[in-house]
Amino acid sequence: MKWGIIGLGSIAHKFASELLLEKEEVYAVASRNLDKAKEFAAQYQCSHYYGSYDEILEDENIDIIYVATPHNSHAEITLKALEKNKNVLCEKPFGLDYDEVLKMIELAKKKKKFLMEAFWTRFNPTFLEVYKKIQNGDIGEVKYIHADFAFPANMKEKNRLSDRSLGGGSLMDIGIYPLFLSYAILGLPAEIIASSHFSETDVDIQTSIILNYKNAQSILHSGLGYHSNMEATICGTEGRIIIHSIWHMANSYTIIGNNEEKKKYNPIKRGIGYTHEIQECVKCLQENKTESELWTHQNSLDLIKLLDDTRGKIGLQFK
Ligand SMILES: NC(=O)c1ccc[n+]([C@@H]2O[C@H](COP(=O)([O-])OP(=O)(O)OC[C@H]3O[C@@H](n4cnc5c(N)ncnc54)[C@H](OP(=O)(O)O)[C@@H]3O)[C@@H](O)[C@H]2O)c1
Repeated sequence: MKWGIIGLGSIAHKFASELLLEKEEVYAVASRNLDKAKEFAAQYQCSHYYGSYDEILEDENIDIIYVATPHNSHAEITLKALEKNKNVLCEKPFGLDYDEVLKMIELAKKKKKFLMEAFWTRFNPTFLEVYKKIQNGDIGEVKYIHADFAFPANMKEKNRLSDRSLGGGSLMDIGIYPLFLSYAILGLPAEIIASSHFSETDVDIQTSIILNYKNAQSILHSGLGYHSNMEATICGTEGRIIIHSIWHMANSYTIIGNNEEKKKYNPIKRGIGYTHEIQECVKCLQENKTESELWTHQNSLDLIKLLDDTRGKIGLQFK
């Protein structure tokens, strides 16, 4: 496939190197700065580069656009790309709120174009195996999930994590991962309890969440000032699964039975792991699908609803 990348920051570099690993073509890239685009293109054997996001969307040869900009611009860029009849893979969180995500999905349906949130953990081989084992009932009925994601970020300078106007804060950037895990395994909760501490720039620097289900609970955490274990534990009536650190991009997991018998598994992951979502996009495009069956439009709507509702509890507003 001929890929076009918009927004040439940190994740765009990782993604481009994984495209090359998958023998995909980094065909065109766009930055707000032409020199930056030229330099990026040279690094990834890319034949076309543009100094604005609008220009790349005029390129008729692109098969799929990957949006890798800050959260506040995902919806605007995706909508423009869909208007120009492009297939789109857009970084998480898909949009700032439910309304933005709904508009993106409605336009994709109208234009009959492929659209997917780049929720790479969904395609991670360890997650896929863990998910299958839970569905098979290997640990019985899931009663409790614990997952966190925290790292020390630079909150003193203005950047996409510290700046509220860019959709900053821990919840939207990394809290989305523990929410995803709980949602993927237990679905939407009956109740959300959440509490945050805020930065001087008025974004959440740490957020703790309890999701209450009819017969289960999840305890989730995100933070931007320190490292956490970054391990996820899923406890069922017949045993528990530990997805080892760093769980959202895991290489291994352990199943522990109620008799404390342990077995560790190491599913094969290619590269950093973006390869697996890339493979999913290619497969969907080859099969003329407009959405992935593994991470559907409804899944993205549910996840953004969870984020909206959690933001409501902690008082984090973007608009
Ligand atoms: N899936 C994952 O594992 C993963 C990991 C990290 C990040 N992400 C997601 O990817 C997106 C980008 O994250 P990142 O870490 O790559 O961020 P980053 O390093 O700050 O890069 C973002 C890029 O967006 C462009 N941009 C457009 N408007 C901007 C603005 N007002 N301020 C700053 N940059 C702007 C810039 O590209 P140009 O200068 O070239 O225009 C910038 O380099 C976010 O949505 C994030 O949640 C996903």
